[in-house]
Amino acid sequence: MNKHSTPPAAPPTLSMDDILQGRRMRRNRRTAWARDLVRETQLSVTDLIWPTFLVDGTDQRQEVPSMPGVFRYSVDRAVDEARRAADLGIPVVALFPYTDPGLRDDSGSEALNPNNLVCAATRAIKAAGLDIGIMIDVALDPYTSHGHDGLMVGETIVNDDTVRQLVDQALIQAEAGADIIGPSDMMDGRVGAIRQGLDQRGHQDVQIMAYTAKYASAFYGPFRDAVGTNATLIGDKRTYQMDPCNSDEAIHEAHLDIAEGADMIMVKPGMPYLDIVRRLKDECRVPTFAYQVSGEFAMICAAGANGWLDRDRAMLESLQAFKRAGADGILTYFAPEVAERLQR
Ligand code: PBG
Repeated sequence: MNKHSTPPAAPPTLSMDDILQGRRMRRNRRTAWARDLVRETQLSVTDLIWPTFLVDGTDQRQEVPSMPGVFRYSVDRAVDEARRAADLGIPVVALFPYTDPGLRDDSGSEALNPNNLVCAATRAIKAAGLDIGIMIDVALDPYTSHGHDGLMVGETIVNDDTVRQLVDQALIQAEAGADIIGPSDMMDGRVGAIRQGLDQRGHQDVQIMAYTAKYASAFYGPFRDAVGTNATLIGDKRTYQMDPCNSDEAIHEAHLDIAEGADMIMVKPGMPYLDIVRRLKDECRVPTFAYQVSGEFAMICAAGANGWLDRDRAMLESLQAFKRAGADGILTYFAPEVAERLQR
């Protein structure tokens, strides 16, 4: 029989209602109020930590070329900025110094100067009586002539001698009034050593936010412009910062930091590492932060400036993604801008 002799049977006609059987996801998306009602996570001003840069002098405000809208402020103006942040309801500012090249040396001795930029700014912000937390990085890179976070012997970044110096650095910062110490150096044992040092000197209330899973990343480029370490850095940081290919190692790091006394842990960079944020939050169940680093900020700004994406929406979406991934808070250069947006 000719196989073409019978016409093909018409397909059964199923209505969309038969297919969906009432399972319509779009009902909850139909109106703004319904979307508001079912929203699972919410970005709030109280999630934000604002990293900001300091420079010597008075009445200084220098834009960082690779970070449009981000400035290095002299201490007097940093106080004004901290006041603006406090008024916006931002809970914490994180201070980073651009150290005069003439003050950088092999051992990063300026890190131990009780009147260095971060300490001076901390004292000035505290003296202004502002209701805002102050976080300071512990690491030597803004102070060393070779741009590394630790002490260099030959080609090696030595661990234990660095840790001893980091403890002294943290003590000087705590004495200046820092509320949160942020070890960003990735030396082994530094969280425990700093905790012990702080406690012995009566700084039991100073918190530690450990840069727990800090990856050896290309996304720190603009930050290194801001603090002037792109010019100084010899080689790379792969012998102490984490390999971007690793995930279990972040859990291992977190367990150690928590055991050593970290009050909060952090993942850095942010957006390319949201899987790490989620794993740490699920597996460690401690306050977990993400650092939306300078390169992430610069990418959003650059694409926005080119008209390739909507800067405002990309900014908000990138931050909402951190909350969805499980972050309790976010360090972001967008902090004042997004705080203004959220207040509207
Ligand atoms: C220094 C430090 C870095 C950042 C924060 N603290 C750079 C680095 O490790 O080279 C990066 C922040 C950013 O890119 O926004 N230890």
